[in-house]
Amino acid sequence: MSLGFQLTKVIGQVKELERYPLYEPFAYASIVQDENTGDIIYVLDEIELNPTERQVYEELRRIVMLELPPPEELSKVGDVKNYLLNELKKIVGRYRRLFRNVPPSSFAKFLYYMERDLLGYGPIDALMRDENIEDISCDGVGRPIYVFHRKYESIPTNIVPMTDEALDDLVVKLIHMSGRHVSVATPIVDAQLPDGSRIAVTYRREVSPGGSTFTIRKFRKKPLTFTELVRFGNISAEIAGYFWVMLDNGRSFLVLGVTGAGKTSFLNAMATFIRPHMKIITVEEVPEINLPHKNWVRLVTRQSYGAEKINEITLFDLVKATLRMRPDYLIVGEIRGEEAYVLFQAVNTGHSGLSTMHAESFEAAVNRLMSPPMNIPPAYIPAMNIFVMIKRVKIGGRLTRRVTEVGEVYMDDSGKIRFNTVFRWNPRNDTHESYVKNSILVNQISEMTGKDVDEVLREIEVRTRIVRWMVENGIFDFEDVSRYVQMYYANPDKVLSQVMGKVSEVEVADQV
Ligand SMILES: Nc1ncnc2c1ncn2[C@@H]1O[C@H](COP(=O)(O)OP(=O)(O)OP(=O)(O)O)[C@@H](O)[C@H]1O
Ligand SMILES: [Mg+2]
Repeated sequence: MSLGFQLTKVIGQVKELERYPLYEPFAYASIVQDENTGDIIYVLDEIELNPTERQVYEELRRIVMLELPPPEELSKVGDVKNYLLNELKKIVGRYRRLFRNVPPSSFAKFLYYMERDLLGYGPIDALMRDENIEDISCDGVGRPIYVFHRKYESIPTNIVPMTDEALDDLVVKLIHMSGRHVSVATPIVDAQLPDGSRIAVTYRREVSPGGSTFTIRKFRKKPLTFTELVRFGNISAEIAGYFWVMLDNGRSFLVLGVTGAGKTSFLNAMATFIRPHMKIITVEEVPEINLPHKNWVRLVTRQSYGAEKINEITLFDLVKATLRMRPDYLIVGEIRGEEAYVLFQAVNTGHSGLSTMHAESFEAAVNRLMSPPMNIPPAYIPAMNIFVMIKRVKIGGRLTRRVTEVGEVYMDDSGKIRFNTVFRWNPRNDTHESYVKNSILVNQISEMTGKDVDEVLREIEVRTRIVRWMVENGIFDFEDVSRYVQMYYANPDKVLSQVMGKVSEVEVADQV
């Protein structure tokens, strides 16, 4: 397989923008820019095998493949690398003849390639190790693999699948690693890789005339937290404070934006505001949402293998099932079809619902919700209290994300769906303008709880201060952030006195 993927040489005048290790001392990322065209390229600088080494390696790989237990069992071995090294030593002992022409120094390289090809993701293994990469996509044979880099956006790499066979093999391998199956009969498969990343493939030239394709959305081990979103300027501390109070009072929201805008990440960050012992059910096609809550049931759809889709369990089936499971909060990863109707039924019968949907604007979202296949009656829509718009925007030449609008949904006297803007991003000075004082939901919560409107507004202010304090004190890690939220629910005075600076760090740390 490795022969079929080439690391092409970058030609022309280039300068290196940065270089960082992916797997020392074998693989590095080198980001270069073409001085003439300005194009940026991601160059995988991976230790090479010379022709003799390559021959030996291919033979070695063949032997190891025959002798090693299958990957599922291998993954149960504790220290796999050590295990491989031992296997390698045994093989060297047994097949001395094979290694006549290579120096002992080649073994480290063989081990690297064995780990890469047998345990890892093969020719894209180094890319999977790069934390800066969000997406990896392969568009077909003979074309460079593209990555979506946090800093440089969508850029080509120097990795090119040269043959159909090599690319097909990689796609089969990736899907097998996900415990799924891909074939000419079922050439389109969505799956989840062992590390949690999402993968979508098309196989051979069945539906993609340019050859097999794959797109990987890499998994982030720890979800982004609301303090990180504030630090990046994606939201203001007050937006976080507002959502904290809204979620605490069981309000629902829908996050809108285009593919990859950061909808799921935003939803996940906000969901950590939910009170610790509330019953939460998440329904997803691929498990992405990660919550600190204990009273949490995760449901994931099941795809069917046969053409009749007999054993398939869809989002619609699962969302329907959750209504009998009495969740306080129902989180549907993304709504696309008829499951939306059930979610809106749920929020109209007293449940809180959080979800995301592809849409470019509030109006487009409402249109989509009211049209087939969702068919939501207009009167149902306001129960999804808050709509959030996320956009990828360019600020000072850099692409970043901003929540551009937060609107509260209501129906006017003529029966039209309207939005009351509570936050709007101002691109001129990159700030979030607040209109929280005009919030309809604050009024609603006041009526519901018997608190004054001012009291609810003050609660938003207090929680905004806590969020700001957390940001200023470098509390960004998922577990730490969740702990502070939980502590606030359990003992608000304790957190407040810390935020107001009356109790020393050490004392509170002891109490956490
Ligand atoms: N505010 C952010 N800052 C940095 N990275 C982010 C941010 N939000 C999301 N990301 C990253 O961007 C990628 C896409 O994010 P996410 O899955 O949340 O988007 P999405 O809008 O839900 O996408 P899709 O439409 O595919 O469901 C992920 O790799 C995620 O880690
Ligand atoms: Mg998403």
